[in-house]
Amino acid sequence: MALSDFLEQLDQLASSAEKAFQEAGDASALDEVRVNFLGAKNGQLKSVQKEMGAVGKEDRPTAGKKFNECKTRIEVAFQAAKDRLGDPAAAKSSDPGFDMTLPGHEFHLGRLHPITQTIEELKDIMGRLGFSVADGPEIEDERHNFEALNIPREHPARDPLDNFYLGTAQKAQLGHREENPLLLRSQTSTVQIRVMESTPPPIRIISLGRVYRPDTADATHYPMFHQMEGLLIDRQVTMADLKSVLRLFARSYLGADVNIRFRPSFFPFTEPSVEADFSWNDGWIEFGGAGMVDPNVLRAVGYDPEEVTGFAFGLGVERLCMRRHGITDIREFYKNDVRFLEQF
Ligand code: PHE
Repeated sequence: MALSDFLEQLDQLASSAEKAFQEAGDASALDEVRVNFLGAKNGQLKSVQKEMGAVGKEDRPTAGKKFNECKTRIEVAFQAAKDRLGDPAAAKSSDPGFDMTLPGHEFHLGRLHPITQTIEELKDIMGRLGFSVADGPEIEDERHNFEALNIPREHPARDPLDNFYLGTAQKAQLGHREENPLLLRSQTSTVQIRVMESTPPPIRIISLGRVYRPDTADATHYPMFHQMEGLLIDRQVTMADLKSVLRLFARSYLGADVNIRFRPSFFPFTEPSVEADFSWNDGWIEFGGAGMVDPNVLRAVGYDPEEVTGFAFGLGVERLCMRRHGITDIREFYKNDVRFLEQF
């Protein structure tokens, strides 16, 4: 084919495309024009491109340049028509049968997990009783989880079967090189030690967080749960103070008709020790342990047991939340089933 014919053909194509794009009256007409000229398979521009092979070799560069100009002209015309009419692709997808009077999609507000909500409320109640919030790590050493809490090496509570000790590989990952074993804390009492180590008395703190024990999950056990630890250290603190703080707390969280009872118990870090039970009409439920801080613990953190005394308690957060809302299975909290979670 002669070069001049090819160039002429390109000019005509560009002009007729420009005209067609200008005349397209709506989005679907525009789309037809687009397919006709720019269609990747059978568009006119494509067919002309194929004919370029018929142009003599020495004329190819001129032909190619002209082809590109023509292509740009058509694309510009298409863009102008699109700006004028809206994008045919978008127009196609909009449903012509859309009914403006239908109710819209409902948006669901996210919410905090019931345990998080409980923790916030417990902080609030204890805050009003003058307790501030302290925090500690979930990966602990034996000093904070056991030794300073008066739990000596031979004590059965340190049994590897009752604790999540970290393996060598996990410790290496943490950059922990010493021989000192690490474990996931089995109680928030660790924070008592951390606070007393770094602060002189008086102390009035709570600490809320996760603890870990290798229990098989059932309706009342889960290998991870939350505790609220409380610690008050001052001059002349007595069991009566402990009982009134726990009673005030229980009444604020569970209602004015709740009763509180202490049963004698044993914890290595308190002496005397009690189990704290709360009750309504339906009988007593144990919510945790408590007691007067053992003098050995006070000595371990450098306090003088002749000068100060104190009480400590550790309550199960899940248990409180379950009693409050009538939840019968602790596993519900950790299934991530929105039908459960949405109720809070
Ligand atoms: N740490 C005890 C537990 O995990 C609870 C407790 C805390 C008891 C403080 C006495 C004082 O069961």
